[in-house]
Amino acid sequence: MKLPVYLYGHPVLRKTAETVAPGREGLKELLENMYATMYASEGVGLAAPQVGLSERIVVIDADPVGESFPECAGRRLTLINPEVEVLDGERIVRAEGCLSLPGLSENVGRTEHIRLRWQDENFEQHEEEISGFLARIVQHECDHLYGKLYIDHISPIRKQLIRAKLTNIAGGKIRVDYPVKFAPKTRK
Ligand code: NI
Repeated sequence: MKLPVYLYGHPVLRKTAETVAPGREGLKELLENMYATMYASEGVGLAAPQVGLSERIVVIDADPVGESFPECAGRRLTLINPEVEVLDGERIVRAEGCLSLPGLSENVGRTEHIRLRWQDENFEQHEEEISGFLARIVQHECDHLYGKLYIDHISPIRKQLIRAKLTNIAGGKIRVDYPVKFAPKTRK
């Protein structure tokens, strides 16, 4: 079942997500729904806050960008309680987008070399060093678990330039071709 994607301006996207405990009811179904939602909106990653749940859960399927970034080919990751450790390396600037910020894409500098620790859907512990664009996707998605969005990494000048677009997203004044949930109206 596809879930609506919560858009920029919704407070759930700014909350710090809670740790997931083994035996969390409905986890399997939630993961299926998150994958269905991600595929339907042609994203390569989706974090639980983006479907309105403040929990440390991320799904990634980076295979669609595998031709441009070989490290992404065939990589599907279900991350429960992920922890990212950024390792040394060069800061690389690349364009990023986000399903919660439709129609926007901005350059973001990141170190694309990380150590990732996570639990899978059976709460088995995993650890892997990840590089390149896959590491960027993981960092972007894990940022969501701390209430952070990629636009938080861009310069104040750049942010000023997209201010009107952000206001339109937050105000529900955009069209999106996948199911979405706009921010609640705030009284001025
Ligand atoms: Ni995102």
